[in-house]
Amino acid sequence: MNKFVITRVGGLARTIIALSSSFLFASSFSLLTPIITHRRYYNTKNKNNNFITHHQRQQLIMSSTSSSSSDQQTINGGDATFANVSATKNIPTYDGDEKAKATDFANYFSAYSQLYHQKQMLTDHNRMAAYHAAIVGNSDIFKDKIVMDVGTGSGILAVWAAQAGAKRVYAIEYTDMANHARNVVRANGVDHIVTVIQGAVEEVVLPEEDWDRVGLTTEEEDGTQQEEEGGEKKKKDQRVVDIIISEWMGYFLLRESMLDSLVRARDTFLKPTSGLMMPSHATMMIAPIVDEEERKHQQNEYAAGMEDWKEFAETTSNLYGVDMSVLESNFDREQKEYYVLSSRWAELPTSCVLAEPAVVKQLDMHVCTVEDARGVGLSVGEDEGSGAPFDFDVVGRSYAENDGIGGHEGPISGFAGWFTVDFKSRTDDIGKDVAPQVPNPAYLSTGPEMGYTHWGQQVFHLPSAIPLLSDQTTRIQGTLEMMRTKESARLYNVRFRYTSSRRRTSSQDRDADVLMKGKSEELVYQIP
Ligand SMILES: C[S@@+](CC[C@H](N)C(=O)[O-])C[C@H]1O[C@@H](n2cnc3c(N)ncnc32)[C@H](O)[C@@H]1O
Repeated sequence: MNKFVITRVGGLARTIIALSSSFLFASSFSLLTPIITHRRYYNTKNKNNNFITHHQRQQLIMSSTSSSSSDQQTINGGDATFANVSATKNIPTYDGDEKAKATDFANYFSAYSQLYHQKQMLTDHNRMAAYHAAIVGNSDIFKDKIVMDVGTGSGILAVWAAQAGAKRVYAIEYTDMANHARNVVRANGVDHIVTVIQGAVEEVVLPEEDWDRVGLTTEEEDGTQQEEEGGEKKKKDQRVVDIIISEWMGYFLLRESMLDSLVRARDTFLKPTSGLMMPSHATMMIAPIVDEEERKHQQNEYAAGMEDWKEFAETTSNLYGVDMSVLESNFDREQKEYYVLSSRWAELPTSCVLAEPAVVKQLDMHVCTVEDARGVGLSVGEDEGSGAPFDFDVVGRSYAENDGIGGHEGPISGFAGWFTVDFKSRTDDIGKDVAPQVPNPAYLSTGPEMGYTHWGQQVFHLPSAIPLLSDQTTRIQGTLEMMRTKESARLYNVRFRYTSSRRRTSSQDRDADVLMKGKSEELVYQIP
């Protein structure tokens, strides 16, 4: 089958971000991170390779529940007031207490209610082209169908679904962006098809009158009305939707935790065996990269921060007679977490990638669960696990043949993580022979080969680079775990455990002939 080729936009110019206006490390103060502003503002800055403008900075500050005009917010660590994790660790829109929901709204949803943020997504042309190809390019399967757009934002996907021939489109949006979506739907002449419903998708109910008016039916022939139980009329079986479309992906796929909402929407509204999810599949991958300029920049910022501390401590002692040096180790930890152990947004050129990427998680959107949304490489119900394995061979430059052509100069500066999504036919056992085939599969990658997307790649720089030696291959073997932070159900930490070893590139046996084996390393990063 033809795969839609997504037009590549944007160059491969090296545009790693240097400024992290509201970085907050997970273990202590990540709670106030305005989640969407990162996704959106990093995008703008990197795309143009400029520092963010005063206007953007102001917006970023406003969208934080606790503002600071400095580049690094200094927030009281671990203040439970700001925690948005519910007792069951589900995201607050689903079952958070009121305080958790309010925090979630302030940090997550409030940004989505601004047209500024929606526009950032609407100008990501790789994203737009992929969704357009998936929906409008598959009008055969949209014709006369019941569609739901989970998190419709400005309403664009819902309008496309109507243009592709859908009979009814339910466009669900939690924020006041729903009002703008209604205007967009009306202005594009599809308001007789698209119904915008404002609310959390976990809580909305389809309009009662539509059962007759649009002829909503579940897969079961015996109708839609369920029996009364316990004196209360049970909700109608709402699994009447043929296609769910949604743009739910965050940095490194899972950040923002909208996957939870999508899974709940699927289980409530999608026809179980004949329904289609768009996108249908998602894949997370990592690769070792060279990225020394940015890695050193981070190291220098860390070193400068510590120099500054020493001067501050001396001044405070001399001028005010108080010894602050007792706090130095804590300040050091804070700075390291901020500058060294946090991932960075990047738009890497393909030449930075040093080995074949490794897949660390694959999701079939028709059968994945909220457990999948908890992270990568975890044991069921746990925040830890054995991790998703990776095993990279990074080949150093070869001078033996072809006058030095082949292999990499290096060094290994760290790892980059990104994701891809597919819009293709169902592959799961219960749906693959029942659901309609997708005639024109579409595809979106946020990897270096794609050029610019607002997701970019997340780069995890190593505190010390691993040099590559000529005619030798460096093997990096280890595991990745990604887990939610304790304080925010929408933010994640990533733990790398790995060892490196070297062997001659000419060696045939990966396990034998090891020239050097490094000690085991463990690094935990926040995705800010
Ligand atoms: C990444 S935006 C995508 C917007 C639009 N679909 C597009 O592709 O341009 C995700 C949208 O989903 C909304 N959203 C997130 N979680 C939601 C939930 N549980 N219920 C309803 N809307 C939600 C957000 O407010 C936001 O507008």
